[in-house]
Amino acid sequence: MTGHPDTPDVPPTRWSLAEPGTHGYSSRFAELVAQGEDVDGEARLADALTQRGATILDAGAGMGRVTAGLRARGHTVTGIEPDRSLVAQAEATYPGLGLLPLDILETTPEVLEAHGRPTAYALVVAVGNVFILLAEGTEQRALRTLRDLLAPGGRMLIGFHLSAGPAGSRTYAPEEFVADATAAGLTVDLRAGSYELHPANEEYAVWLLSRDDSPS
Ligand SMILES: C[S@@+](CC[C@H](N)C(=O)[O-])C[C@H]1O[C@@H](n2cnc3c(N)ncnc32)[C@H](O)[C@@H]1O
Repeated sequence: MTGHPDTPDVPPTRWSLAEPGTHGYSSRFAELVAQGEDVDGEARLADALTQRGATILDAGAGMGRVTAGLRARGHTVTGIEPDRSLVAQAEATYPGLGLLPLDILETTPEVLEAHGRPTAYALVVAVGNVFILLAEGTEQRALRTLRDLLAPGGRMLIGFHLSAGPAGSRTYAPEEFVADATAAGLTVDLRAGSYELHPANEEYAVWLLSRDDSPS
């Protein structure tokens, strides 16, 4: 069980409350990596959205596949993940990956600086259902916290299921997500239906957001 019982302003995530129903995720991806299967769809899109050698934050990095996929493409990647069992699994699968054991809500520029990591990012990635597994009622706060980590012109890539999400996840309707993003000072630049940019659909949403004060 993860969560922060001693830190009242960082409530336990839906992910942590859903354990052990969520364990399938980490073993499934570890197996796919061991078999040499493709687990890089999200990393490929993120790579195409950035310049070479970009500074990228992988928020809710899980077992580390996206952090690893982006590092392999030459980017400077900070991965944060509050579930310490996943941080350990990430290190076992990708030695030296160095995920930080942090919740999005506590990931401020000051905290990142204290860990010796960049404090502003060209791209923030929160894929694989992170946003439907946040703690209840923290979506706007999480969006605002991540927005404050964007470098000028920086963007955010978010993806989650609109239906049939994983155990313990919420239903997050597109219009509610857009309202939360707008309230957090973000503009929706794109909604697609997959990481290969299929048209928007009712099963999965991939969002590209930018700061609403970004130069267009
Ligand atoms: C299904 S896993 C996906 C992990 C990874 N992004 C991937 O695509 O492989 C969902 C992740 O969201 C993380 N998560 C949920 N709420 C979070 C929060 N507030 N801050 C950081 N990570 C969070 C969980 O700990 C879990 O690792």
